[in-house]
Amino acid sequence: LADPTFSAAVIEWQQQHGRHALPWQNTTDAYRIWLSEIMLQQTQVAAVLTYYARFLERFPTLESLAAAPSEDVMALWSGLGYYTRARNLHACARRVVAEYGGAFPSEPALLADLPGIGRSTAAAISAFSSGTRAAILDGNVKRVFARVFGVDQYPGIKPVEDALWRRADALLPHTGIERYTQGLMDLGATLCTRSSPDCPRCPLQQRCVAFATGRTAELPVRKPK
Ligand code: ADE
Ligand code: SF4
Repeated sequence: LADPTFSAAVIEWQQQHGRHALPWQNTTDAYRIWLSEIMLQQTQVAAVLTYYARFLERFPTLESLAAAPSEDVMALWSGLGYYTRARNLHACARRVVAEYGGAFPSEPALLADLPGIGRSTAAAISAFSSGTRAAILDGNVKRVFARVFGVDQYPGIKPVEDALWRRADALLPHTGIERYTQGLMDLGATLCTRSSPDCPRCPLQQRCVAFATGRTAELPVRKPK
């Protein structure tokens, strides 16, 4: 399953066509990266931008966020939706201060034990903040993988998801994890979109089962009723 040409294609595309100027890029500050990844879990980039800036203005450090009253955190999150994220965000900030002296751990397994941080978010934070080689598998990446590998089962069920995690792990590059991780995110968000994938511009087209078999509209398989 390992295939260095896969990550090489993603990295090369990211360098030329990916996103490079988002406010949480070009930093290794785990606090800023963590905040962005939580906001981006269920909200698109365009909507996150203003909230992200306001949040950092009011809470420039993890300590300031941890020390704030819950009402202030909830008020600043108001409008972003999925409010469990805000409660977990605050709880997470307080735990990192209490348990790690205010410095996020770099180990993905330790990050994934914190409130609001699942396996994929832990990997993203770890890759972006410390270059740790760990696989992401968020909704966008699942869609890209389901199409490229022609996964013809609903990816929301455990055995199919487990198989995708194994593929994600096996495909990790040995260098350039930040660019690769960002590249997968950018591919899923800007090119291999749910309803209109831009296959002619895709760096994975030559290896994409969905493209080769004309099934981009059928994959990923929808949730069975
Ligand atoms: N979605 C999730 N994480 C992201 C990131 N780092 N950049 C852009 N979109 C994202
Ligand atoms: Fe997605 Fe099309 Fe690229 Fe396949 S070729 S990964 S369907 S954009």
